[in-house]
Amino acid sequence: MKIIVTKNYDEMSKEAGKIFIDRIKNNPEIILGLATGSTPIGMYKELIKAYENKEIDFSRVRSFNLDEYVGLDENDETSYRYFMNDNLFNHININRENINIPNGKAKDLNAFCKEYDEKLEKAGGIDIQLLGIGEDGHIAFNEPGDFLNVGTNITALTDSTIEVNSRFFNSIDEVPTTAITLGMGGILKSKEIVLLANGEKKAEVIKELLTQDKVTTSLPVSFLLVHPNVTIIVDEEAYSGIAKC
Ligand code: PGA
Repeated sequence: MKIIVTKNYDEMSKEAGKIFIDRIKNNPEIILGLATGSTPIGMYKELIKAYENKEIDFSRVRSFNLDEYVGLDENDETSYRYFMNDNLFNHININRENINIPNGKAKDLNAFCKEYDEKLEKAGGIDIQLLGIGEDGHIAFNEPGDFLNVGTNITALTDSTIEVNSRFFNSIDEVPTTAITLGMGGILKSKEIVLLANGEKKAEVIKELLTQDKVTTSLPVSFLLVHPNVTIIVDEEAYSGIAKC
């Protein structure tokens, strides 16, 4: 596991941008695993800049997003599809047919999960997966618990996640309580993983991840410890728990 500590959010975003830009240049048909949340917004700006400067071309790039709220459609400003359009896809030349985001309005959600995994597998799996991290150690919406799912699945969000994510909604009551998420299998089969974390709020979970030598379902992100190609990029605040050790 490679760890890069940067001064601040902007530097973290630039470091992550450099990695993705390099991989896209080297493989124009790359399959990107993409994430939502506050963390990757700066890194998406780096990709947009590189596209505008004609450094990279998205015309043959394919993408799979990690998750989506159940019940929200793409016109809903709080849906993850809306987020992706707004923060990345509307600003680059990616072919809409090459974008995959779980459908929170699918009639048969379980059948949809199965199809999503099949499509990902057929595509050859994710070449490089971008991840944020929840304060409770979740990755995508794989929440701490007695077990973790391997495949794409419908999951109940924890109270902690609902509370943290309520900042994007008018009130906490509007936060969907279930989501579709790529399972641990889809994530861990990625050839390369880049996890980003910034801010003091992530210091405790980053400390937990980097100081305990164990894999546990109560800290889903700990499964990255056994993956052969993970880079963690944090800012000084997110790293501050370690710095104090
Ligand atoms: P954030 O979310 O980027 O908004 O902090 C990360 C996550 O919950 O995975």
